[in-house]
Amino acid sequence: MNKQTVFSAAAILILVICISVLAVGKRSFDQPIEFNHYKHFVELDVECQFCHQTVEANDVAGLPNVEICIFCHEEGVVSENPRFHEVVQIIREYSRRQEKIKWNRIYDLPSHVIFSHRIHIGAGVECESCHGITGKSKRPSGQPELISMDSCMDCHRRNNIETDCLVCHK
Ligand code: HEC
Ligand code: HEC
Ligand code: HEC
Ligand code: HEC
Ligand code: HEC
Repeated sequence: MNKQTVFSAAAILILVICISVLAVGKRSFDQPIEFNHYKHFVELDVECQFCHQTVEANDVAGLPNVEICIFCHEEGVVSENPRFHEVVQIIREYSRRQEKIKWNRIYDLPSHVIFSHRIHIGAGVECESCHGITGKSKRPSGQPELISMDSCMDCHRRNNIETDCLVCHK
């Protein structure tokens, strides 16, 4: 191989990596009902806890079930948004079948990690510190933002919180 082919092979490799990074960056994520955080949190001002009801009290934040959607997506409510009424129908079907919505999990730590929302929310850590713009995005990205062992460690170190392996691992 001469210098030039080595160079172009490297260039192609870099290109391939860039393309795959871009492809991952653009990946969107299917949920059983296409949900829109921006609409509910930013435009309608519904707070996170209204739908993620156990975030202050439990380890897990909780994903909403039909009863929470029915609170607003009810027959007879006037809305100019056709999607609003589509959701009313979809939700009614779930309700009739007494079925829960099976949301796909985006944030999902391996089982050897110990994590609690209650402890972090209680200490005043904001949702955005760990979830970035998830709560304000129009479509779920399918990629957990900001969560890795490094990001946990960074914040713990900055705030003088335990970084012993066994604090976070079992
Ligand atoms: C506090 C009231 C409220 C709750 C609770 C609520 N919604 Fe909505 N939702 C609305 C309103 C109002 C609209 C229409 C807003 C508009 O377009 O002006 C809407 C719109 C939508 C849309 C269309 C979004 C778009 O991009 O046009 C979807 C999908 C949706 N809701 C799903 C859900 C699901 C699923 C739940 C339960 C997890 C839920 N909503 C809970 C009030 C609510
Ligand atoms: C009207 C209800 C509603 C409100 C308000 C709401 N969410 Fe959600 N959230 C959902 C639903 C439904 C899902 C599952 C669908 C999806 O991923 O978009 C979800 C998913 C999530 C997820 C991904 C969970 C996982 O691992 O799958 C995070 C993180 C999240 N919400 C954070 C927030 C934050 C932060 C706020 C406030 C800024 C917020 N949400 C406000 C309904 C809501
Ligand atoms: C210190 C970081 C951190 C903060 C702050 C945080 N989360 Fe999370 N969240 C996580 C991690 C890590 C997971 C994955 C947990 C797992 O797999 O056990 C998660 C998972 C979730 C999930 C999906 C799984 C579940 O627990 O039901 C939702 C919904 C969620 N968070 C919402 C919120 C909301 C709303 C807030 C703010 C009120 C918030 N989170 C604050 C780190 C955080
Ligand atoms: C933005 C800052 C921040 C991030 C990011 C963060 N933490 Fe924390 N964590 C805290 C704070 C503050 C406390 C202390 C709460 C207290 O003691 O009141 C804490 C406490 C804890 C505790 C309890 C420690 C004890 O002494 O019992 C565990 C376990 C923990 N965090 C795990 C994690 C994991 C796992 C992650 C990453 C997924 C993470 N944390 C990310 C700020 C953070
Ligand atoms: C503040 C919380 C925290 C502390 C302290 C911590 N870890 Fe982790 N660790 C995590 C989280 C969160 C993950 C999962 C990351 C993911 O899934 O992306 C992880 C993953 C791992 C993994 C699996 C490999 C990987 O990258 O997924 C190993 C091995 C590991 N940690 C070892 C350690 C050791 C050894 C220590 C002590 C020096 C330690 N951890 C301290 C939070 C922590």
